[in-house]
This record gives sequence, structure tokens and C-alpha cells, in this order.
Amino acid sequence: MPDENRVMEFLERVVADNAAAFAGVSTSLGIRLGLYEAMAGAGALTSEELAEKTGLVERYVREWLAAQVAGAYVLHDSETNTYVLPDAHAAVLADSSLPTYVGGGFTMLKALYGAEEALASAYRNGGGVSWQEYGPELAEGVAAFFKPGYEAVLVQEWLPAMEGVEAKLRRGASVADVGCGFGHSTVLMAKAFPESRFHGFDFHPPSIEAARKLAAEAGLGDRVTFEVAAAHDFPGAAYDLVTFFDCLHDLGDPAAALKRVEETLADDGSCLVVEPNVSAEPGENIHPIGRSFASTSAVLCLPAAMAQDGPYALGNHPGQDALKEIAAEVGLNHWKLAVETLTNRIYDVKRH
Ligand SMILES: C[S@@+](CC[C@H](N)C(=O)[O-])C[C@H]1O[C@@H](n2cnc3c(N)ncnc32)[C@H](O)[C@@H]1O
Repeated sequence: MPDENRVMEFLERVVADNAAAFAGVSTSLGIRLGLYEAMAGAGALTSEELAEKTGLVERYVREWLAAQVAGAYVLHDSETNTYVLPDAHAAVLADSSLPTYVGGGFTMLKALYGAEEALASAYRNGGGVSWQEYGPELAEGVAAFFKPGYEAVLVQEWLPAMEGVEAKLRRGASVADVGCGFGHSTVLMAKAFPESRFHGFDFHPPSIEAARKLAAEAGLGDRVTFEVAAAHDFPGAAYDLVTFFDCLHDLGDPAAALKRVEETLADDGSCLVVEPNVSAEPGENIHPIGRSFASTSAVLCLPAAMAQDGPYALGNHPGQDALKEIAAEVGLNHWKLAVETLTNRIYDVKRH
């Protein structure tokens, strides 16, 4: 018989996880329906006032608020029967322009939970679940999940950490952003470096459509293009910089993609590879960030790569040695960790 105290301790932890998993749907709804946004900075509100502000049905809003109070995301004053979203909580759940915003991770949940049937089949028969098979919320959620981090550090820290790259971008460079998704990384770089031209590629047509819209809204139409293209045969030549933001490990054939980089790079061009900061050693990932990455790898990164029938299915924690080896095989012999954050490792990759 296992030790009873240890069983109770573990039970408590799993019940808390299960409660958080149940609550995730409400959090996603709060983001989608603008409930957190409406509460941000609004002070104490009754459920009627919040329903009025959001155009939602009061009875539902009251139930949603009760769930939020149970999770201590929202505070309730029983005397006035009002609810407050503290400013500190609004910074995490309501304002997508802040680096502390994590709403995108909740938007991804529907697509991940919704893929359970397809995932179960893949686990049984060794097939994959293609990026397109997950619901549309996946691409939308992934883009929103990564955007705050890119906004906080891409231009400020990551590009300056790449040898010689910032100066080239300032003078005027040609850049390919491969697996660009909704193009937030592409647009951020384009805004920061007005002399340079940027080309975003992704094999997912709805993402390219969203990226084109983003660039048009930012008034970048003349310097930024987005095209549907696979990572192993994206068009162009003589790029000064090719980037992979959180996607190299998602490819069924990262070697073919890096080979294409080698073919299309200018003589002294660089490749920026952004990967999750998570260990290849499972026991080193026992913390929330490690758990998030390891968990999304098991239900997204690995199956999506398996669906591409490539020679690799790396998952999102292959470790830098595995990636470095693949790069060297295709002639990209220089591999250096440029900088790292809590969530990402940024590699500076070149021919020499
Ligand atoms: C985790 S998302 C990252 C998207 C974007 N770079 C970002 O940081 O928000 C992975 C992206 O890789 C794209 N992708 C996966 N396999 C691909 C392939 N073989 N060729 C081109 N794009 C691919 C997906 O469509 C998706 O947009």
C-alpha cells in the first residue's frame, strides 16, 4: 500500500490541476468575450454592469464571475455584491500589449482538447495530426501566445545579440521569416528597421492571410510580403537573415529547411533560430514553463511534425546538440547560443 499522506498530497495536487483545467474554458471565454478587458481599470462592477458593458446575458456573466472568484482571478465584495479585476491581474489577462499577457495560451486550449480523438489515433498507429487538423483557434492562440514575448525582446535583445545583424538591418537588409504564422515577428522587425525588406513564409494559408492583414494595417505593404510556402522550398535568394521563430522543431524535415537556408543565404548571412528554453532531460522541466512546453510537445509539436512524414519528429525539447548536428549536416557549421530568456533560447547560425 502506498503511504497515505503521500497519496493525499498527490491527490490534492492533481485535483488542483483538474480544477485549473476546468477553469481554462472560462478563462478562454473571458478573453474571447472581452470580459477581462471590460473589467480592466473599471473598479467595482456588479454583474449587471459587466453584462451591460459587454453586451452579454447577465445570468451567464454572474456564473462566470463566480468561477473567476473561485479561482481568485476576480475579487468579490459580498456587501456590495460587486466584482473587481485587480490591475495586476488585468496585466496578465486583459491587456495583450503587455509582456505579462498570457491570454493566447488559453485560446489554444479548445484546439488542443478538440484534437484528442485524432491524437489518440496517432498515439495508436504512429501517424500524425497535421497543423491544419487542429481548429482555427490553434494558429490564433499560438500567435497571441508568442506575441507579447517577441514584442518585449525581439528587437531590443535578440537581434542585437546576433553578430553583425543589427547593423545590416539598419543599413537595409533582406530577411526571410520562415514558419511565420500570423507574422507578428515579421511585422515587429519591419517596423524597427525601415530600410530593410521582409518576406514571411508559412505553409498554412489562413495564417498567411492573417499576416497580410496585419502588415496592411501597419502600413507596411511595400516592404513586407507574405507567401504560402513550405520551409524546405521557400523562394528567394541572398537573404542577409533567415529566421525561425518557435517553429524549426515543428517541421517534419528541419534538415531540408536548413538546407534551403544554406542555399538562399547571402555569403555572410545569418540564421536566427528561436526555440523553447526547455531541457532535453525530462527531469529538468519540473516547473510551469517546462511543463507547458513538454505538454504542448506531446499534443502538438510532435504530432504536427509526425504528420509531415519527415525523417525527424523532434518535439519541442530536442536539446541544442540535436539541432546543431542537423545544421552542420547541411553546411551551417557555426552554431552559437546568442542569448536566452526564461522561455526561449536564441541561436546564431551561419556557414562559418
Ligand atoms: C508554433 S507555430 C509558430 C508560428 C510563428 N513563427 C510564431 O512564432 O508565432 C509553428 C508554425 O510553423 C508552421 N509550419 C509547420 N510546418 C511547416 C512547414 N513544413 N513549412 C512551413 N511552415 C510550417 C505552422 O503553420 C505554424 O505557423
